[in-house]
Order: sequence, then structure tokens, then C-alpha cells
Amino acid sequence: MTHPTLAGSSRSSFAADWWRHAVVYQVYPRSFADSDGDGLGDIRGVVSKLDHLESLGVDAVWLSPFYPSPLVDGGYDVSDPRSVDPRLGTVDDMRELVADAHSRGIKVIVDVVPNHTSDQHAWFQEALASPKGSAARARYVFRDGLGPDGGEPPSDWRSHFGGPAWTRLPDGQWYLHLFAREQPDLDWSNRGVRDDLLRTLRFWGDLGVDGFRVDVAHGLAKDLAEPLRSQPNLDRQLPTDGSDPLYDRDELDEIYAEWRAVFNEYEPPLMAVAEAWAPPSRVSRYAKRGSLGQAFNFEFSTSAWDSDQLRGVIERGLASAERSGATTTWVLSNHDIVRHATRFALPNGVDLDAWLLTGGVDPAPDVAVGRRRARAAALLMLALPGSVYLYQGDELGLPEVADLPIDRLRDPIWERTNGAQKGRDGARVPLPWDSEAPHLGFGTGEPWLPQPAVFRELAVSSQDADPASTLNLHRAAIRLRGLLDASEDITWIDSPDGVLHFRRAGGWRCLTNVSGDAVPLPAGEMLLSSAETPVGDTVPRDTTVWYR
Ligand code: GLC
Repeated sequence: MTHPTLAGSSRSSFAADWWRHAVVYQVYPRSFADSDGDGLGDIRGVVSKLDHLESLGVDAVWLSPFYPSPLVDGGYDVSDPRSVDPRLGTVDDMRELVADAHSRGIKVIVDVVPNHTSDQHAWFQEALASPKGSAARARYVFRDGLGPDGGEPPSDWRSHFGGPAWTRLPDGQWYLHLFAREQPDLDWSNRGVRDDLLRTLRFWGDLGVDGFRVDVAHGLAKDLAEPLRSQPNLDRQLPTDGSDPLYDRDELDEIYAEWRAVFNEYEPPLMAVAEAWAPPSRVSRYAKRGSLGQAFNFEFSTSAWDSDQLRGVIERGLASAERSGATTTWVLSNHDIVRHATRFALPNGVDLDAWLLTGGVDPAPDVAVGRRRARAAALLMLALPGSVYLYQGDELGLPEVADLPIDRLRDPIWERTNGAQKGRDGARVPLPWDSEAPHLGFGTGEPWLPQPAVFRELAVSSQDADPASTLNLHRAAIRLRGLLDASEDITWIDSPDGVLHFRRAGGWRCLTNVSGDAVPLPAGEMLLSSAETPVGDTVPRDTTVWYR
């Protein structure tokens, strides 16, 4: 099957491997742009802002879930994966979005959420109404409890959002949910579960999307043999040999091989990128040919502003790509992470969860330093081979909104941890488009999360005409990156402490002064600098320059 809008196109970005060096822009639909004034962003809102994405120069847009959802987990609790939440639009709106994006040479990637459904999904409702041992319950993970009356959970497994990963039903059985209790886990040894996901892939593939971002890709296969094995750690401390009962198991290969066969029914084949929080040595499994094809490398998002750490991240990312035959990916921020303009404004090593609980005041972020580093980091990331995933608002330098009123928080993490963690809402505040319009141009209705005063000066309209703005820096960098030789390696150049310096094929170089003394500007033609004022003969700290 050929994408109707792509047929006959000669754009090189439509080649089968377009994703290897793509700049992908993540849209969190409910917070992007609201076309109908209900305070929630929607699909037509995305369509209305395609000009922005085109002027930014991105190759693809990835949409976080827009499917019908009770919004317990911001849409990652899906009640119907082959439909559009009526508050966000219709399947026809999605068709229009895909066609419009394609006409501008922009690909569209959608999220799939295979590990769990919403508790409002028809299957889970059927399971609740069906007896113990029924086929309807076999699609999920129902178990009897431990202890004399079965009153203890079947295992010690914990939910990522706090509390046990098991909830008991009135009939005495327990069901598994690695996330919120409204997100029951599916049983991936069930053939019906597998076939249904293949149907979902084909549904969106036939509609014209170009690929998928796979949610919790490391979680589908579980060792559910009795007695259930203990798993006291969450997935960030996984063993490196696939022996964890819940995450990163070898059986995933077989599941993704079936998906790959579906991707390859399309021309060009659909791409996929795995959200797999696995040890760096194992992430390449998800990215290899025959599996999903690409995997997120989240190490930038957890690295301090430190040249040794950043260099390690780059080296491990490139090595992992070499192992898989894919390219690596670079991620500074997304909808689950404290935004990097804020992370880099804080001293290295600050506990971000604890900092969020202070309302973002202790320690006080150094906003100017955060902005400089965020700009330098963006140029560093965009200079690297592989794909770059930008999160909406990164291009504006948006900070984390750490002082949201408690009664406005929507992330289940706040409530489920009994206030021990504030959650991810601060990265999900609706975007500022127009400094003069109501709600900064997000839409005519009161946005679902309040926008802070600082968003006004960061709005697209405030930055558009300023050549030194963070928005224009991103535009220039993405354009120049597109002209680069697409070689997939870098050569490090010796440099003083605190400085990262490398060369790409064609003689093009990137120098980041992370924390060193000012270094002499190397001879050559300066292409771009992250500094807000022109650099003179030296490159100060917190600055990246591109030159050749
Ligand atoms: C992924 C998503 C996150 C969601 C979780 C459960 O980690 O990025 O937002 O809460 O999966 O679906």
C-alpha cells in the first residue's frame, strides 16, 4: 500500500529510512492548541499550527495519545485505540491532519499504548462482568490473592504511580496495573490481545500515519508463572540479562517481530520508536532490524550539565546504534520529564522531585543560566547523527511550571503518592502562541492548566521576529542540520576540560563549552552560535558553536 499523498513525490525525506536522521516534534495534543474553546487542545488545533511546525523545519510530528480516554493518566489510559476522543476531534480530523502534514513534507507518528487499557475499555468492562477464569478475564492479569482469605495482593509488585500494582475487586480477585488502577495491564501471552494490537497498527497505517511511538515497550511480556516472583525495583534499576519478571524480557522480540511484519506491509515501511527504560546495553534490542527499528535514548534527559557525563551519553548512544544497526535518538525533554531549561537552571545533582515539592523555589533556579544551557544543549543535540525528538515548547525555551496550584494538578502521581511526588503537570502546561491574545493564543476557553506570567515573553509571537530568540535559533539549527552530510559517526577533537568538540563528515564541527574557561574560537567559518549576543574571539561557557 502506498500513501496516497506521497505517491509520486520526489522528496528525499520520503525515502524508507527518513527516520534515521529526522527531527521529530512531540505534540502533547491536550496542551498544544485548542480550536473549539473548551480549554483542551485538539486535532484541529494541531492542524491550525502546522505553519509553525513547517517554519521550524521538523521532519515529523509525533502525537501523544488523542484516543477516547477518561484522562486518568493524561490520555495514556485508552478506552478505544481506534478512535479519536470526541473532545479532541474525529477520525476525519486525523485524516485531514495527516494529509495536510504530508503536503508540507511532514510525517506523522502516533502513540500506541499496548501494555494496558483504560478501565473503561469495553474489554475491561466485560472482564469485570465475567466470572473468574473466563476468557474475558484472560485478556488481563487477574489472580487470586495470598493469605487465608486471599486478602493480600498476589505479589509485591508496585505501581509506578505509587502503591501496590494490584487492586482487589468485590468478588475477591485482584487485577494487575503497573500504572494507575484505572490502567489494567493486558496479558500479552493472549492471542486475542496480540491480534487486536495488529488491528490497531493497520487501522492507523491505513489512515496514512508514518509510524508509531510505542509506550512502555519494555513492559509487555511478563513472567506470570506461579508463584509470582518478587520485583522490588521499578524499571530504572533493571538487571542487564533480561531476568526481571516484569520488564525487558526476551519474549518481547517475538511480539515485535509480528509488528514488524505489519509495518513492512506498507511502502515505505512504517517506523516505530520504543519507549523502553532498559539498561543502555539492552536498549539496542528494541531498535534492531526485525524489531521496532528505533528506541529512545533517554540519557540526555537524565544527564547533568557536565562535559564528562554528556560525552558518555553521546558515546553510549552511538555505540548502541552501532549494535542495533539503527540510529540513536536524542531526547532532552518530554511530557514525563522536568523541562530542561529548568533542569539546567538548577545545581547539578538536585533531587527534582524534592525541588518540585518546594514549588520550584528551593533552590531557586538561575533562569538566565538555564536559558543559555538549554540553547547550547539544543545545538549540541542537533549536531549529532541520529534522530532528535523535540518536545513542544522546547523551541521556545519554556521552563517547567513548578508552582501550579495543588487543586489544579491532574497527574495521578500527586494523589497516588499521597503528595510525596508532585508529578508531571508542570511540563504539560498549554503552549503560549500569541502574547496579546486571551490565554496567550492557546484558545478562547480557560486552559485546563493555568499558564504562568513568564509564558507571555516566551510566546511564539514574542520570539518570531527576534533573530536572537530561542525559536529562531531552533529554526536556523534545524535548517542547517538538514544540509549536513548524513554520515552516522563523529570524530572527537582534543579539547580542554569542560569542553566537547567533534567533527562530522564534510569538515563540519561542533564545539560546546560546558563548564570550561572561555576557549579561543577555532579558525573557520562560523555557522551558528547558541549565544544570544555574538561571540567574539572566544567561546564562553554554556555555549555551543557550529563552524567549518
Ligand atoms: C509512558 C508515558 C507516560 C505514561 C505511562 C503509562 O511512560 O510516557 O506518560 O504515564 O507510559 O502509560
